[in-house]
Amino acid sequence: MNILAFGASNSKTSINKALATHAAEVFHDELMPDCNIEVIDLNDYEMPLYSIDYEQEHGVPKLAQAFLDKIGESDALIISYAEHNGHYTVAYKNVFDWASRLNGKVFQGKPKVALSASPGKGGASSVLSAAAGSAVFFDAKLVGQLSVPNFGDAFDTDEGKLVDEDLAAELRSELQSLKDVLED
Ligand SMILES: Cc1cc2nc3c(=O)[nH]c(=O)nc-3n(C[C@H](O)[C@H](O)[C@H](O)COP(=O)(O)O)c2cc1C
Repeated sequence: MNILAFGASNSKTSINKALATHAAEVFHDELMPDCNIEVIDLNDYEMPLYSIDYEQEHGVPKLAQAFLDKIGESDALIISYAEHNGHYTVAYKNVFDWASRLNGKVFQGKPKVALSASPGKGGASSVLSAAAGSAVFFDAKLVGQLSVPNFGDAFDTDEGKLVDEDLAAELRSELQSLKDVLED
């Protein structure tokens, strides 16, 4: 089993990348030790800002297919969404929009755990709600979701793990759902 994880952010210090990485490691270490985990960085998929004019003139950048290929090669997805003004970051939306020009079923039927994190009390729950609610339209099987508010307190950045016990337990429960689906 190949698990693909990423933070939907282009921040070099992304808390969502940290959370997605942690979730993938928990899944590997505690639930499915024989799986392979791969964490990608959205900065490796930076493309021009989507525009229909650019597309007509130059076509779709190769990185959009590379992003789709990563999803296609995986068996499951763990994505943690950063929230900018209530919605996706421009960085994620740009990769997603380009990819959707090649394949509207961006998630290619993969089971997906959707996470979100923010430094504040909202936990980026608006963007998580948007991502979870639209998953089916882009051919993802949403099997779990978790919002992590107050990230600075809930997550030990040095250790790279959730230290809030309730959230840690919820994360394991969502990941168990993913395992159940993969073994079904
Ligand atoms: C332009 C901008 C808008 C933001 N809007 C929100 C928001 O609507 N809700 C929220 O919870 N946090 C918001 N934040 C704070 C982000 O949650 C915070 O920067 C977080 O670290 C982003 O995740 P990342 O580190 O994975 O990129 C915003 C930050 C920026 C720079």
